[in-house]
Amino acid sequence: MRKKIVAGNWKMNLLPEEGKKLTSEIVNMAGDEVPNDVTLVICPPFIHLESVNKLTGDQEKVFLGAQNCHTEDSGAYTGEISVPMLKAVGASYVIIGHSERREYFGETDEFLAKKTDKILSAGMTPIFCCGESLEQREGGNYVSFVTDQISNSLFHLSADEIKKVVIAYEPIWAIGTGLTASPEQAQEMHEAIRKHLAEKYNQEIANSISILYGGSCKPGNAKELFACEDVDGGLIGGASLKSRDFVDIAKSY
Ligand code: G3H
Repeated sequence: MRKKIVAGNWKMNLLPEEGKKLTSEIVNMAGDEVPNDVTLVICPPFIHLESVNKLTGDQEKVFLGAQNCHTEDSGAYTGEISVPMLKAVGASYVIIGHSERREYFGETDEFLAKKTDKILSAGMTPIFCCGESLEQREGGNYVSFVTDQISNSLFHLSADEIKKVVIAYEPIWAIGTGLTASPEQAQEMHEAIRKHLAEKYNQEIANSISILYGGSCKPGNAKELFACEDVDGGLIGGASLKSRDFVDIAKSY
């Protein structure tokens, strides 16, 4: 049975008081409304981590994640945050390889492989993002582009390690655009990713890995996306900034 996960990526939004208010609302609603087999993850900007952890730390449904990390534990890396720092403030998940970081900060597959190792060695869970541009989709090579991203950053992992990774498929053309992948488009890619994992490892391992969908996921389309056989939840951007919408998405299972 794969873990169902709905993760909220706040990106670079909200001031501290706004973050606390949003988290309190989510935690309060989630207790009664979100099915027990659905895990919620809140990924705020770094400055919110401690205050969000105070609100999520004592319960079992809502977990804390970061949006990025560095590959080193400490040192002269001005402006960066290390995995031990994230762990110390209660984070258990880290998003890596988001298309915005690949595009604006030049993150490469190789760098993401090192981040994956660092997160796993700390006993935390990487949420590894992958996804194609509109040009790649229209060019027809979108499946191989995404499976290559996965091979390049994750296929050095052992069988025990890959089982601990969460994958998020986020077509770049659907992020923040209001254009969502259709359930058929999402299922096609998620199935291809799982097949790719099975070919490298085995079917049992591939079947155990949660693959989330991200890209304009909202209360109005989450149900049909989550109904797809290989879609195990969502990585939610804009809609995670509204407690009602985020919880309604999580209730869509
Ligand atoms: O990490 C989240 C994704 O980039 C999706 O963002 O829901 O605003 O399209 P979005």
